[in-house]
This record gives sequence, structure tokens and C-alpha cells, in this order.
Amino acid sequence: MKELDWANLPFGYMKTDYNVRIYYRNGAWGETEVCSEETIPMHMAATCLHYGQEAFEGLKAFRGKDGKVRIFRLEENAARLQSTCQGILMPELSTERFREAVLKVVKLNERFIPPYESGASLYIRPLLIGTGAQVGVHPASEYLFLIFVTPVGPYFKGGFSTNPYVIIREFDRSAPLGTGIYKVGGNYAASLRANKKAHDLGYACEFYLDAKEKKYIDECGAANFFGIKDNTYITPLSTSILPSITNKSLMQLAEDLGMKVERRPVPEEELTTFEEAGACGTAAVISPIERIDDLENGKSYVIAKDGKPGPVCTKLYHLLRGIQYGDEPDVHGWVTIVE
Ligand code: PLP
Ligand code: COI
Repeated sequence: MKELDWANLPFGYMKTDYNVRIYYRNGAWGETEVCSEETIPMHMAATCLHYGQEAFEGLKAFRGKDGKVRIFRLEENAARLQSTCQGILMPELSTERFREAVLKVVKLNERFIPPYESGASLYIRPLLIGTGAQVGVHPASEYLFLIFVTPVGPYFKGGFSTNPYVIIREFDRSAPLGTGIYKVGGNYAASLRANKKAHDLGYACEFYLDAKEKKYIDECGAANFFGIKDNTYITPLSTSILPSITNKSLMQLAEDLGMKVERRPVPEEELTTFEEAGACGTAAVISPIERIDDLENGKSYVIAKDGKPGPVCTKLYHLLRGIQYGDEPDVHGWVTIVE
């Protein structure tokens, strides 16, 4: 293999050697199959194509200084996928089968796991789709679960540096009692126009307010929000945002650092009071927020006044990355070492 430029990888798809697949037929999940095809032969009436029976996940594997490969909180991704399956009536895959498939696909593609020094990682993308044919609006009777992997660099420009964000009010990503809490493709389809507008205007990503009142901060297109003030980590409580595993981890780490943690609705005006703020997620890690503009009411909430990541974001970032790469002790048992 031509040596990859590990330190300058984009967040994008790259062909690797293998993916793994499990088919659901006749009411049961089959064996885990290893595949080197990048394509999926599919019935044209498959429910994933017409009625959005599609769920995905995102997690990462990291190569440590000690050469060991660590996967971060895979049981949490298994549980969230199960929750998504309940949400759109797809059969759940057990945590055990999920774990086995993740470990298998990571081992099979070991040569694509970036070296420690590069700061890059192996992104793991599980996908679960309805493949059975259906024309009436009903769940399918056949499904495919697959996982592919791809080496990735930072999701937002500059990695750990501040970026500007924008509140887009003219599109909602998800409804209060809709699918926002699930990781389904439809939420991302709903975000594409807002995301394009944000990018066209030079922002890193779009922010959504709650769809009902347009009063509270929900989240970004692909990451949760948190704000820091008075030694407190504050993050939105909402029925329309994805329960982020990174955010859950940061809440624990903030508590470990002796901070208070608040999960509650965050009104837009409160943005004026934060000392620091960030967008967080598997892809984003922590992306410190420079400012959030609200074009419609003409407000610009400048958070990083000197344009630099603040001390709390920096500490949390290094702690999280340290656990993921094996530089910090894994006191909460978050890491699975690939043997
Ligand atoms: N919110 C959305 C809409 C996302 O797509 C993601 C990415 O998975 C997150 C938040 C962050 O979640 P996690 O930390 O589990 O990756
Ligand atoms: C992730 O953080 O894993 C995401 O899913 C973000 C985005 C690529 C959808």
C-alpha cells in the first residue's frame, strides 16, 4: 500500500480492505460475513430507499503510543442503535453481536488504523437498513447490518481551534416528538439545506433551535452543544437532539474535574453569558466555538473573545483524547482494547 499521508487525512471515505455484514431473514440475524465489495445489491422496493428505514452509527478506533488499538465506548453505540431500531421499527442487534462485528472489521483493516503521532483515527460506520420489498408504508421483513471503516482526520477545519457557527431558523432538523433522538438518515437529509447555507456563508456548521418555540439551543448538524460558565458544564436537554456519547463522556469528565453539570433547556440569550462553548461529537471531538451568529435577529454571540480555545475546553479535550489514545487512565472502563 502506498504510504498514506496520515497527518493530513480529511474526514472522508477511503476504500479499505473489508466490511462485515449480517443479514436478518426469517425473523433472525444470520452469521457475520466478511466482504470486500463496496456495493450492496438491493431490491428496488427496499424500505430503506422509500420509507427511510435506515439507521447508522459512528465510533472510532485509536492507535496508542504503546501500539495498542482502543475503541471508545462501543457498548454505548450498540445501545443507541438499539434505541434507533425501536424508533423506526427495525429488529435490534444485540450488543454482543455489535461488539463482535466491530472488533472483526477493525482487526481486518488494521493496516488502515492511523499511527499515534498523526492524531488521526479509524472511523467506524455501522449501518442498518430495511432491505425487504414493500410498497405500503410498513416495516420490512428483511434487513442488512453492515460496518465499514475509513481512516479520518478532523471533521471541522483546523481540528482543535475555534470556528464560527450560525443559527439557521428557516429549517428544522427534527420535530419535538420526531426522530431527532435517533440516528436516522432522514434527520441528515433534513439538515442538508441548512448545512449548505451555513457553509456558503463561511460558517463551520449550522445550529438549530428547538422547532416548537425557536427559543432554545438544540444542537449543531452533527454535534451536541455545551457551554461553560461559573465552573459549570451546561448542555441542552431536548427531545429533538441526538444523545451524544461524546457529550455524555464530557459530562462525566467535567464532574471528575469538580465542575457542576447541568442538563436543561438553554435559551438563546444565555449565549451571552458563557465563558466558553463547544460542539462535541465523535467526528467533531470538541470543536471550540468562536461565535454563534443569529442572522435573523442580527445578533452575534462572541464566545471566544480572543479567538482561542478556552482553558476548560482545552482540558476536557486533552482528557478525552488522552483516554481514547491510552495516554490517560481509563477509570470509567470506556475503552475496549483490540487483542
Ligand atoms: N448530534 C448529531 C446530530 C450527530 O450526528 C452526532 C454524531 O454522531 C452527535 C450529535 C454526536 O454524537 P456522538 O458523540 O455519539 O458521536
Ligand atoms: C459522528 O460524529 O459520528 C457523526 O455521525 C457526524 C457526521 C459525520 C454525521
